[in-house]
Amino acid sequence: MSDRDELAERRRKNLKLISFSPEDQTLIESEKPKTTFADVGGLEDVKKKIRMNFILPLQQPEVFAAYGKSAGGSLLLFGPPGCGKTFLARAVAGEIEANFMHLELQAILSMYVGQSEHNLHDLFAKARQNKPCVIFIDELDAMGGSRHHMRQHHDRMLVNQLLLELDGLQAQNDQVFVIGATNTPWYLDSALRRPGRFDHLVFVPPPEDAERRAILELKLAGKPTEALNTAKIAADTPLFSGADLEQVVKEAVESAMERTFESGRIEPVTQDDLKKAAKARKATTLEWFQTAKSYATFSDVNRDYQVVVDYIKKHGIK
Ligand SMILES: Nc1ncnc2c1ncn2[C@@H]1O[C@H](COP(=O)(O)OP(=O)(O)O)[C@@H](O)[C@H]1O
Ligand SMILES: [Mg+2]
Repeated sequence: MSDRDELAERRRKNLKLISFSPEDQTLIESEKPKTTFADVGGLEDVKKKIRMNFILPLQQPEVFAAYGKSAGGSLLLFGPPGCGKTFLARAVAGEIEANFMHLELQAILSMYVGQSEHNLHDLFAKARQNKPCVIFIDELDAMGGSRHHMRQHHDRMLVNQLLLELDGLQAQNDQVFVIGATNTPWYLDSALRRPGRFDHLVFVPPPEDAERRAILELKLAGKPTEALNTAKIAADTPLFSGADLEQVVKEAVESAMERTFESGRIEPVTQDDLKKAAKARKATTLEWFQTAKSYATFSDVNRDYQVVVDYIKKHGIK
């Protein structure tokens, strides 16, 4: 093992996962998640962007330095709900040789007014102490989402704090990376989208055919089933999100359980159970595409959503 490998190995072992605990209002350390990119079906483009922006700069800082690029920066994942943004970000934690901080905005926002800015500041301070570190800010939609006056004021202060922290990172350019995720990037405060902040948008699309199959099999694993043709179900569920597929499996399993209670012996999940469950639902991503389309058509000055328009065309979404 070379010195460099040894160093990497040692670093990997000492990595921490830090998150904010709403119960006791503090930052807690937990074990690094074991999921990696291998557990995420498909999404090759997204993985590539993450490798390029986060993983390679950490592994080969000298290459980035040679091109005058510093290690550090941010990405904003966006796309329909249930398609793997959170799942993917967790896998980044398992993949990357860096500490990982998971921040759910809902949890931070639910705090007393004034306290959430403070918590946010602590988190970023902690990230700097633990660099290299990836901060994942999930559910950015929560920010500025409410119309309630107090709430709005509160959110505004939190947005301002986040801006301060992001700019601080840029100034110090010190191996702290930020990944944000949102279903609705068009509602995001435009100040957050300026250069040096969340200026890189990455579209996380619904799973393709083979990915849907992989997700179905993942969710069925370990359950009693007859010989299933999951490829057929995958082919019949275009645009279904990972979460939709999870729901299909759940309903199919419930049908099998009902039969089990009637017959008194363990009944396997059948192809028909899956087929019926899939037929009974509609892809939840469709509504998202309608909304995205109108933003892409009427207010996409930076052509951020061209990728969505292309996707809509390619998949013939009406
Ligand atoms: N590409 C994928 N590979 C494997 N599982 C997926 C994938 N996309 C979604 N899922 C499943 O769907 C669930 C919902 O995904 P999630 O990451 O919570 O969606 P989002 O954050 O985009 O709303 C996950 O827990 C996961 O089980
Ligand atoms: Mg999510």
